[in-house]
Amino acid sequence: MVSRVAGRSTSYEAEPAEGASVKTLLTQSPRVAARLIRRGEIVAFPTETVYGLGADVFNERALKKIFAAKKRPADNPFIAHVAEKNEISLLAKSITPAAALFIRRFFPGPLTVVLPKKPEVPLTATAGLHTIAVRMPRHPAARALLRACGVPLAAPSANISGRPSSTTWQSVYADLNGRIGGILKGGRSPVGLESTVVDCTGRVPRLLRAGAISLEQLRKIVPSTRPAVVRKNAVARSPGMKYRHYSPRARVLIVAGGRIPHYGSTTGYIGTRRPPAGTDFGLAKVCRSPAEYAHELYAFFRKCDEANIDTVYCQPVKPAGIGRALMDRIRRASHL
Ligand code: TXA
Ligand code: MG
Repeated sequence: MVSRVAGRSTSYEAEPAEGASVKTLLTQSPRVAARLIRRGEIVAFPTETVYGLGADVFNERALKKIFAAKKRPADNPFIAHVAEKNEISLLAKSITPAAALFIRRFFPGPLTVVLPKKPEVPLTATAGLHTIAVRMPRHPAARALLRACGVPLAAPSANISGRPSSTTWQSVYADLNGRIGGILKGGRSPVGLESTVVDCTGRVPRLLRAGAISLEQLRKIVPSTRPAVVRKNAVARSPGMKYRHYSPRARVLIVAGGRIPHYGSTTGYIGTRRPPAGTDFGLAKVCRSPAEYAHELYAFFRKCDEANIDTVYCQPVKPAGIGRALMDRIRRASHL
């Protein structure tokens, strides 16, 4: 049930989810969404990677609303999103030489750079860290929202913590209706996996999270770029990476040696190759390329949950290019 309120494309949903306490406004207008942000509300919006859940990066109360709405652990920092490159100086104390090169080549786009933080940015946004992750999205609706807000937006992915990120406004709605001020509706996120995160605070840039901008592409710009060394029990460089992530309710298994131990109506399959002859699944998706696999993965996980699938088989791909990000997310979803 929808009742029209302010303008043609804006509506309030009449029935918030159980336990919810706020009205969630659905809108296609970046200006309407920006008005909510300026009032200290939190608003989900489309980006080319996944949907984000945004708040004014300088508004502590709004930042705290994000942690509550997502049930996000307090030690996991947010990425700050900017409309223009010159806004980076509102957030970062300095732009290191490697960061300057990456920014010149890949902004706007699916890349996040970690820089030394300006003291003006609340520690709530960075979960106590003195560094800040910055990204300039390419998506037109995200850009329009950021411009209309006139401030950078702190925005994690718009999902309940631990669930797959949302690649459609409908998934945002399923997770967060009644918990957030609004949703800026757009189409499906074209990339489908979260941005590449590269720590540029040290001498050597470190890849903290793989994404659509590949390690190979980063190395073309700064050849010394390395994957982050993950040490057990060490303080995580990227706190978010220690949490279980991106998981459907179903068990996720990586297909090893082409073998599918059991199949049937409560199982799912996704990959770039057809499943072995003689197998059948409740849901199956054969993708044309690793890029399409990346685009489909989270939507497929969510579809499996809706269909009460208990086991999802994911075919592995070569961990190069977008394949590195894809295998990273599949491994995390499979608890490896
Ligand atoms: O594509 C994306 O990056 C999406 C869209 C909305 O921009 N955002 C996103 O945010 O995926 P989130 O919060 O789900 O993931 C951000 C990751 C986390 O792993 C977090 O720990 C890391 O970036 N991060 C944020 N600030 C950091 C910092 N100062 N140092 C190291 N890692 C940081
Ligand atoms: Mg996330």
